[in-house]
Amino acid sequence: MKWDLNYLEENIGTSDFTVFQSSNHKFKYYDEKKIPKLNAEFIPPTTKLSMKFSEFTKCLTETKDSNSRLYLQECLNNNLGAEIVRDFLNFDWQFCTTIQSKHSWGPLTSNLLLVGMEGNVSPCHYDEQQNLFAQVLGHKRCILFPPEQFECLYPHPVFHPHDRQSMVDFDNPDHVRFPKFKELKGWETVIGPGEVLYIPIYWWHHIESLLAGGPTVTINFWYKAKPNGSVTYPLKGHQKVAIMRNIEKMLVDVLQDPNDVSPLLRAIVLGRYTEHT
Ligand code: OGA
Ligand code: ZN
Repeated sequence: MKWDLNYLEENIGTSDFTVFQSSNHKFKYYDEKKIPKLNAEFIPPTTKLSMKFSEFTKCLTETKDSNSRLYLQECLNNNLGAEIVRDFLNFDWQFCTTIQSKHSWGPLTSNLLLVGMEGNVSPCHYDEQQNLFAQVLGHKRCILFPPEQFECLYPHPVFHPHDRQSMVDFDNPDHVRFPKFKELKGWETVIGPGEVLYIPIYWWHHIESLLAGGPTVTINFWYKAKPNGSVTYPLKGHQKVAIMRNIEKMLVDVLQDPNDVSPLLRAIVLGRYTEHT
C-alpha cells in the first residue's frame, strides 16, 4: 500500500480534514453534542481544527520539536482525489465482506482515516460498532480488554462528553477512586503495515503510535452489529454492556438530573439484590 504522507498529500484532494491538537500525547475523544447538556464546566482535552491535507503535513513538520501534537481523523467521503478513490476501490473487499457475512454483521457505515504522529495515544475506550482496523503505515501498540472488564475500567457516565471513555488515566491511575483497575487484564499486540486487527464491538482499546516509529496511517472499517434476532442465553459481555447503557440512558433521560440516578439505583439494589437470601 502506497499511502505514505507524500502520496496522500499529492492525491487525497483539497477537501478539509478534522485535525485534533493536543498539548500532551493523549487524544481523548469527546462528543461535542454532549457538552451543553453537562451541568459542569468541560474543558476539551484537545482542540479541533480543520485544514487541507497539505496544511496538515506542513504543521506536522513544524510541530515536530514542540510539545504540541496533531492527529488527523476524518471519515473518507466522496470528495477525494481520483487516485485515492481508485486505491479505495482496489482494496481487498473480498477479505472484509467474507468476515462481514461470516459473522452476520450489518452494513459498513464508515471508514475513518487516522494519520498520527509517533507517540500519539488514543486512551482506552470502546465503540458501538465492529471494527476492522487496517494498519497502512508505521506501527501501533494496541491493548484490548473484553467488555466483561467494564468494572475495572470505570467509563464516564453516558451523558458525559467522554461517554465510552475510561475515567482512569493509564499514565497515573488513581487506585483509591478506581480500586478495580488493578485487576485489569488485557491482550496486547503491535500491528504494522498490511495487518488488520479486529476490534470487536464493545471491546475496550488503548492505541498508541510507537515512539520513534515515524508517522502512522490507519484506515478502519466500521460495521453495524449483527441484528438482534432471537437472543440466546447466557448473554454475552457486550450484550450486558448494551443493557446497562440503555438503562442508564433511560434513567438520565426520565429523571432529568444525573444526580438523581445514583439514589434511585441504590434504592433498587441495596439490601434487596445485594444480600443473599
Ligand atoms: C478506532 C480507534 C484510535 C487510534 O479505530 O476505533 O479508537 O488511535 N482508533 O487508532
Ligand atoms: Zn475506537
